[in-house]
Amino acid sequence: MSKNLTKYVCQSCGYVSPRWIGKCPNCSEWNTFVEEVSAPVRASRKTGVTSKIEPVSFDQIEKEDVPRIKTMLNEFDRVLGGGLVPGSLVLLGGDPGIGKSTLMMQLAIALKDQAVLYVTGEESVRQIKLRAERLNAISAKNILLLAETNLDLILDVIDSGTPDLVIVDSIQTMFRPGLESAPGSVSQVRESAALLLRLAKTRGIPIFLVGHVTKEGAIAGPKVIEHMVDTVLQFEGEAHYAYRILRALKNRFGSTNEIGIFEMHDTGLREVLNPSEIFLSERNYGTSGSTVVASIEGSRPILVEVQALVTPTNYGMPQRTSTGFDYRRLALLLAVLEKRVGMNLGQQDVFVNVAGGIRIDEPAVDLGIAASIASSLRDIPVDSSSVAVGEIGLGGEIRTIGQIEKRVHEAAKLGFKRIIVPQHNLKTFKPNGEIEIIGVDRIEKAIEALIG
Ligand code: TYD
Ligand code: MG
Repeated sequence: MSKNLTKYVCQSCGYVSPRWIGKCPNCSEWNTFVEEVSAPVRASRKTGVTSKIEPVSFDQIEKEDVPRIKTMLNEFDRVLGGGLVPGSLVLLGGDPGIGKSTLMMQLAIALKDQAVLYVTGEESVRQIKLRAERLNAISAKNILLLAETNLDLILDVIDSGTPDLVIVDSIQTMFRPGLESAPGSVSQVRESAALLLRLAKTRGIPIFLVGHVTKEGAIAGPKVIEHMVDTVLQFEGEAHYAYRILRALKNRFGSTNEIGIFEMHDTGLREVLNPSEIFLSERNYGTSGSTVVASIEGSRPILVEVQALVTPTNYGMPQRTSTGFDYRRLALLLAVLEKRVGMNLGQQDVFVNVAGGIRIDEPAVDLGIAASIASSLRDIPVDSSSVAVGEIGLGGEIRTIGQIEKRVHEAAKLGFKRIIVPQHNLKTFKPNGEIEIIGVDRIEKAIEALIG
C-alpha cells in the first residue's frame, strides 16, 4: 500500500502544517487544526470524468425540468422545496435521539414505489426491524437493509444493485479502509461524503446522509461537509416535547424558509398539518401573562402562546430567563417597558416562555412578549379573544411587520375576535371584515388595548 500523506490544515485560515499545533501561527486561532490525508486513488472506481471536456455557453445548455419525487410526507416535501430532486445529496443533522432514523425510515416507507437502500452503521438490522415494527411497516417490500460501515463495500453494493434512493445512517460511522484516521474524523467524513456525492451525481440517485450534531465540537461533525451537499436539513425539538421541527438550513433546490412540523408518537412521527391548533390546545384562559401571537414560519402563519411570569426578586440580582425567545431581545423589551411605559421591573424576576417548545426568532412577536410581561406584572389577563403582532422599536413605537394578511387570516380562521397590528401596516393592508383590526403606533396604546 502506498504511504498516505498526512498534513494538518487550519480550518480558519487554511494554513498548512506538517504536524498538529494548538495555535495557528498565521491567524492566531486556537484548536483549528484538523488532520487531512491525501488518500491513494482507488483504481477500481470510475471517476465519472469523461476524456473530452469542453466549456459550454448558456444557449448550449438545454432546459431540463427535473421531475421531483413526491415523498407522500407533505411536511417533508415542503421543506425540500416540493419533493426530492434526483441526484441530490441531502444531509440530515440533529441531536442524538431526536428521531432522525425514525424520519428516514418513514421516508423509506412512504416511498413505496421506490427501491430504497438503508445503510445502517449504528444499529443492527434487527434493531431496525424493531423500529419498523413500531412503525407498522415490516411488510414494506421496497426497503433493503445493509448493516455495514466500510464505504468501499457499500459502494460496491450500490453499484451492483439499482436503488432509487440511498440512506446512509450515519455518515460519522462510515470509513474508507484506505485512510488511516478513525471513522468520524474530519478526513473520513469528508472523503466518504465526497464519494457519495460523486455517486449521487453520476447515477442520479438521491442520497440522504444522517449526521449527529455534536454540541461542543462542531468541527469534526457534519459541519465539514455542509458545503458539499445540496441540502442541509436540521431536525430539532425539545427533549420533553413531542414536537419536532424540520428546517432547511441550506437548499440548492428550494427556499430555506420552510419548516415541517411533526409530532413523535409511539408509532412514529406524525405530520402536524394545522400547527396553530396544536400550539394553542393547552392554552390557559383567564390567567395573566399569556398572549397569543401570529408568527410566520417559512411561508406559513402559526399562532403560538407566549407566556411571561413576573415575580418580585427575593434577594440579589433580578433573574431573567427566556425559553424559545432571544434573551437579548427580552432584555431590550424590558428596557423599553421601563423607560417608555414606566413599568418598574428592576426588582422583578422575569421568565418568558414560548409554549409548545418551539422557538420564535422574528421581531413580530415583540408585542406579544411585552403584553405578557405587562399582564403578569399587573396581574390582569390579556383579552383571550385577541391576537397581537408588532415589532417594538427602542422609542416604544410599534413598527411595521411583513406578511400581515396571512397573520390576520390565520387569527380569523381560528376564531379570534380581534387582532392588534402596527398602525403603519394598515396603510397598505385592506381588511375584509373577517376579524376586528386595531392599529396601534405606541406600546402604551397596544398594552391598553390588550389588558385595559
Ligand atoms: P431515533 O430515530 O432512533 O433517533 P436518532 O436517529 O435521531 O438518534 O428515535 C429516537 C427516539 O424516538 C427514541 O427515544 C424512541 C423514540 N420513538 C418514539 O417515541 N416512537 C417511535 O415510533 C419510534 C420509532 C421512536
Ligand atoms: Mg439514529
